[in-house]
Amino acid sequence: MAKSLRPPVTSNIPLNHLAIIMDGNGRWAKSRGLSRIQGHAEGAKRVIEIARASQKLGIRYLSLFAFSTENWHRSKQEIIGLFTLLNKFLKQELPTLHQHRIRLIISGDLKGIPLTSQRVIEDALKQTEQYSDYYLNFCINYGGQQEIIYATKRISEAVNKKVFDLKDLDVKSFHRFLDTALMPPVDCVIRTSGELRLSNFLLFQSAYAELVFVKDYWPDFTEKVLIKALKAYQQRQRRFGHAHE
Ligand code: FPP
Repeated sequence: MAKSLRPPVTSNIPLNHLAIIMDGNGRWAKSRGLSRIQGHAEGAKRVIEIARASQKLGIRYLSLFAFSTENWHRSKQEIIGLFTLLNKFLKQELPTLHQHRIRLIISGDLKGIPLTSQRVIEDALKQTEQYSDYYLNFCINYGGQQEIIYATKRISEAVNKKVFDLKDLDVKSFHRFLDTALMPPVDCVIRTSGELRLSNFLLFQSAYAELVFVKDYWPDFTEKVLIKALKAYQQRQRRFGHAHE
C-alpha cells in the first residue's frame, strides 16, 4: 500500500488523485527556435520523471492530458508526431512501469486513434493490469463531456441488460461507468503554461478539485516545480461545499 504524501510536501490534506494539463510545449519550442514536435519530445521526457516523482511523494493516482478530442484540428504532421512519441514512450517506459508496479490506464476513445498506437496501448494495458498500488492514467482522444456521454450510454446498456438498476444511480455509482472507474475523484488539477482553463479535462471527476495554475511551460515542469505546486495545494482549505470553519 502506498505511503501518504511525505515531506517536503506535508500530508495535512490528502492527495490521492493528481491530474495535470500538460500545456505549453509549442511555446517552449518557439521560444527556443525549435519545432513544435521538438517541444512535445522534451515534454514527453517530463512525463516519466513526473510520474516517478509523484509516486515517490505517495500519490497513487496520476492523470495526464496527452491528447484531447480537439487536438485533431492540429496539422497532420504534429498529430503523427504526437502519436509516434506516445508509441515510443510506452515501449521505452514499459520496463519502468513494471519496475515500479505502475498500472497504465487509458481514458478516451481509443477506437479513433492510429492502429499502431492502439496495439502498443493494448499491450501496455495488459502487461500492467496486475498492479494496483499506483495508477498512471493517460487521457488520449479524450474529452470530459464526451466521457460523460459515453458513461450515460453504458448506464443505459447496463439497465437494458438488467445488470444495473436506475434507482441505484447516484454520484458514486456514476463514477463506476467513467473511464476512470478504478480511480477516486480528482483532488488537485495542475495546469502549466499560465492558461486558466479546464479545457474539457476530467469534468465529472474534478467537481471538488483544487485548481493550481503554474506559469512554467510543461517541458520546464521539473520535480521542483511539482513540489512547489503541491505546496500551493497543501495551503488550500478543502470544504466540498461545506461552511467555513
Ligand atoms: C500542450 O502543448 C500539449 C499537448 C497537446 C500534448 C501533450 C503531449 C506531451 C506532453 C508529449 C507526448 C505525450 C506522451 C504521453 C509521451 P501545446 O502544443 O498546446 O503548447 P502551446 O499551447 O504552447 O502551443
